[in-house]
Amino acid sequence: MNQTVSINAPDYVKHEGLKQWVAQIAALTEPASVVWADGSQEEYDRLCNELVEAGTFIRLNPQKRKNSYLAFSDPSDVARVEDRTYICSEKQEDAGPTNNWEDPKKMREILGGLFKGCMKGRTMYVIPFSMGPIGSPIAQIGVEISDSAYVVVNMRIMTRMGKAVFPVLGTDGAFVPCVHTIGAPKEPGQKDPRWPCNPTTKYIVHYPETREIWSYGSGYGGNALLGKKCLALRIASNMARDDGWMAEHMLILGVESPAGEKRYVAAAFPSACGKTNFAMLVPPASLSGWKVTTIGDDIAWIKPRKDKDGVTRLYAINPEAGFFGVAPGTNEKTNFNAMASLSENTIFTNVALTDDGDVWWEGMGPPPAHAIDWQGNDWTPEIAKEKGTKAAHPNSRFTAPAAQCPCIDENWESTEGVPISAFLFGGRRASTVPLVCQTRDWDYGVYAAATLGSETTAAAFGQQGVVRRDPFAMLPFCGYNMADYYSHWLKMGKAVDKPPLIFMVNWFRMNEKGEFAWPGFGDNARVLKWIIDRCEGRVSARETTLGWMPNYEDMDWSGANFSKDEFAGVTSLDKQAWVSELEGVKDWFGKMGGKLPAKLSAIRDELEQRFQAA
Ligand code: GTP
Ligand code: SPV
Ligand code: MN
Repeated sequence: MNQTVSINAPDYVKHEGLKQWVAQIAALTEPASVVWADGSQEEYDRLCNELVEAGTFIRLNPQKRKNSYLAFSDPSDVARVEDRTYICSEKQEDAGPTNNWEDPKKMREILGGLFKGCMKGRTMYVIPFSMGPIGSPIAQIGVEISDSAYVVVNMRIMTRMGKAVFPVLGTDGAFVPCVHTIGAPKEPGQKDPRWPCNPTTKYIVHYPETREIWSYGSGYGGNALLGKKCLALRIASNMARDDGWMAEHMLILGVESPAGEKRYVAAAFPSACGKTNFAMLVPPASLSGWKVTTIGDDIAWIKPRKDKDGVTRLYAINPEAGFFGVAPGTNEKTNFNAMASLSENTIFTNVALTDDGDVWWEGMGPPPAHAIDWQGNDWTPEIAKEKGTKAAHPNSRFTAPAAQCPCIDENWESTEGVPISAFLFGGRRASTVPLVCQTRDWDYGVYAAATLGSETTAAAFGQQGVVRRDPFAMLPFCGYNMADYYSHWLKMGKAVDKPPLIFMVNWFRMNEKGEFAWPGFGDNARVLKWIIDRCEGRVSARETTLGWMPNYEDMDWSGANFSKDEFAGVTSLDKQAWVSELEGVKDWFGKMGGKLPAKLSAIRDELEQRFQAA
């Protein structure tokens, strides 16, 4: 036990188990001091000032971007590291075919060595947080220990963080312990680089049985903000399987019809496939009276709940409190509401700094004549043309409070959540998958989600890209055996009286010229409207080999310029493409092992017969 560092717990902390755990981690990691994050504005401002002094943060021009900061990360630390991410279940079979696995005993030895003294010379922060509105029956408490002030200030935006969680935690409440270090101990007098991290060694480790998270070496996004992917998806998916609920990589949005009826849908699209865009979509003015509001843009926790009418439905909350969104491509046209959300009180990471102290990224608008790029170098449009250098890293992000979103839903902090009418699943498919299809029933919907994928390359004429499967958009986030996760989904459909309808969508079909064949963005509201109308049973559709699809006339084209031929182009079902798609699914299912539900292979076989006969 390291006797030199006091854990310094404030009086309001009455949880002995928590204090003991903090003392244990301090003894292991040997920080210079321990600070408990209280979540106050004063603390946030103080830490941001310290980050400015340390050179990690650049304060943006307050006239342009009030109370906002920019960080440039180390070039070795710019995204989640999937190959360094582990599910260390007791049995390898429980991690399944899609996760990296290591024996938990062996992993504890490796990490024990790495974490020994890893916080030397640094402050160790204790960051209590709630995923979900504090006190919600769907919410969970976590406590992250981290030696990064960047993590503390980001966690304050992304979660309900600080003192406020203690009334829920009480003297012995359950919490998920999350230990994070940037893996860069400091000798006395040693000066930090602007983004200290461990450039060579990174581990993102989950112990599902003991519900623990240990993260080493990275300070970026999902590697370091442990409430997000590690807790809210990988650990929560384990809790959800055991306790009969769902933890999903889904946005949640509200749709209000001109008659003023409100419905909610949740949609799973893989990383960087448009969740933030769709969550905040602005319907074209010509779809008059249709309004979209946002509950969340990345993660949904969903539980069955019996309504007053005695009917059990699925209710969803957004466990997060902020958006950690992809910056490039975001502008007033593609995502007006995101742009408004990040107008102040925002942390930017790896975007470019303009000469007037504001931010810029590719696809934001006209390029500045000069900027500092994310690697800290001079950037001009000429340099970009010559060397192809990007001003902003393609995975550069903004961290912005959800409450700042102009279209935030009035129920976004509701403790019981919102009832879900439909689930949408969509990857980036240049061909094969139609714009929208209502699956035949829940099990067919699970099949569609289980086989979701994106094409790695855009399809050239007559040539199909390689499909990378990303089932339920959960490939990097499912904390247990993917085949068992499929079974859990099949089961959940039967656990509620009125399960949501399941739709597959694809905004990314391409034409012969290699251009997007569907306008996307705001026009996705036309698809959404058809989906809501299907849920309400008030619009027709045609039955196809795949499921129910809209006729051209079934969609609202007011104000649009999209012909019947173009519509045929994004909704056609090519027999040959589907036969080879189903071959691909056979390979994928072959990799799932003995736990694959027989139901799903039966659906595949049936689809194959239908397409062969078509
Ligand atoms: P994560 O935060 O990584 O989970 O990603 P995300 O799913 O929230 O992705 P995001 O909304 O940030 O979208 C990423 C990219 O998709 C951007 O380049 C957008 O321009 C593009 N995109 C979003 N919606 C559409 C669309 O309807 N059509 C087309 N063609 N591109 C889109
Ligand atoms: C994703 O990759 O799906 C993200 C970004 O939402 S991160 O939080 O870094 O995982
Ligand atoms: Mn995501």
